[in-house]
Amino acid sequence: MSDTLVTPIPAYPFGNDGPEPRLPDFGQEGVGRVRLPTGQEAWLFTRHEHLRELLRSPDFSSDFSRPGFPQIRPMPKEAPQRDGSFIRMDPPEHTRFRRMLTPEFMIKHIRTLEPLIRQTVLGALESLRAAGKPADLVEHFAMPVPSMVICHLLGVPYADHEFFQQRSRVLLAWASTPEQVQTVIEELREYLVRLIAEKRRNPGDDMISRLAAERVETGEMTERELVGLSVLLLVAGHETTANMIGLSTLVMLQHPAQLERLRQDPALIDDTVEELLRYLTIVRTGLTRVAVRDTTVGGHRVGAGEGVIGLLSAANRDEDVFTDAERFDLARGSHQHMAFGFGIHQCIGQPLARAELRIALQELFNGLPELALAVDPSTVEFRDAVVFGVRRLEVTW
Ligand code: HEM
Repeated sequence: MSDTLVTPIPAYPFGNDGPEPRLPDFGQEGVGRVRLPTGQEAWLFTRHEHLRELLRSPDFSSDFSRPGFPQIRPMPKEAPQRDGSFIRMDPPEHTRFRRMLTPEFMIKHIRTLEPLIRQTVLGALESLRAAGKPADLVEHFAMPVPSMVICHLLGVPYADHEFFQQRSRVLLAWASTPEQVQTVIEELREYLVRLIAEKRRNPGDDMISRLAAERVETGEMTERELVGLSVLLLVAGHETTANMIGLSTLVMLQHPAQLERLRQDPALIDDTVEELLRYLTIVRTGLTRVAVRDTTVGGHRVGAGEGVIGLLSAANRDEDVFTDAERFDLARGSHQHMAFGFGIHQCIGQPLARAELRIALQELFNGLPELALAVDPSTVEFRDAVVFGVRRLEVTW
């Protein structure tokens, strides 16, 4: 009797311990089943063209309260207060919020912030120098830059950054229990309720004051929605760009010939940022959705109520789109990458993230021409959370 070969369903997420993501081998089709820590199963799509189709299809929902939604970690039984958190909404609700925020994140508005971003970067560089070498680049540079910028943009006092950095971290860590997630969401909301009340009394020149005056006062948005929206922006604006700055520095230092190329031709900075976004794809868990009706993706049938995950890191290494995709090549012109997602939920903060990354990397490599890792790269510890990053990065110069 021949053995029946039953391929076990791989456990997901796969875990990450370096700049190169771990990817499944689903053959040419690029789709397979995975088992989530909650015991649920979901479809995992990995091909670039399939992700484009999936992420722009109205047949899938981002609302995680829908039955069948793939939960990558157990969520609180009582759904936390989610008003305003439009990343988890579908149209027309999603469209309503997205429209109200679009002017704030338009490239032309972000350009006006560039002097402030540069000043913030230069200040952080000074604090890195002042820490004395070797120093932790994450603590002195990668974290403070996006944190100060998002605080300025929203009108949140930077003096409170430890409070929300700690809570963002709990929110994004795999190990957090549903109760811990619930508690930090409530704490962040309480903090913002107080801040918004204060801003309604004494408005400043910042996004929360503007949204309160132009949207809450007019009845377009409730105060509770503004609270949820502000929590989303505060968390999304912190961890993502900070992790990109830390990991990008590591990758550039590990590819000295490419770093030299950038130094010789500074105009390559925009392409460098795009290639780093592609190569690192820090939203390693991919994007979760649930089918709201029977449908197909790339000709593959997905039933109503089935969960799907679009693995951005795999799409960004699809050989049909990126030749020699494993190779880090800052001049490849990787503009089709999906590090910011695709479709209606594509990252609204991308102009800001790009400006921060460009200015941070320019000033870091110009200001510290001798910058080098102070430790063996094999000892660098990674933070394998919802958003991937380095825990610490000891550097010298
Ligand atoms: C390098 C940094 C960043 C990366 C890689 C990144 C990645 C992403 C991705 C993949 C999505 C799509 C989520 C989905 O479809 O379910 C997203 C959405 C979002 N991002 Fe970012 N992000 C970054 C920086 C930022 C910043 C700086 C902000 C805000 C200040 C921000 C705010 C948001 C918001 C509000 C959404 C939800 C948009 C919507 O649902 O319409 N992100 N981001």
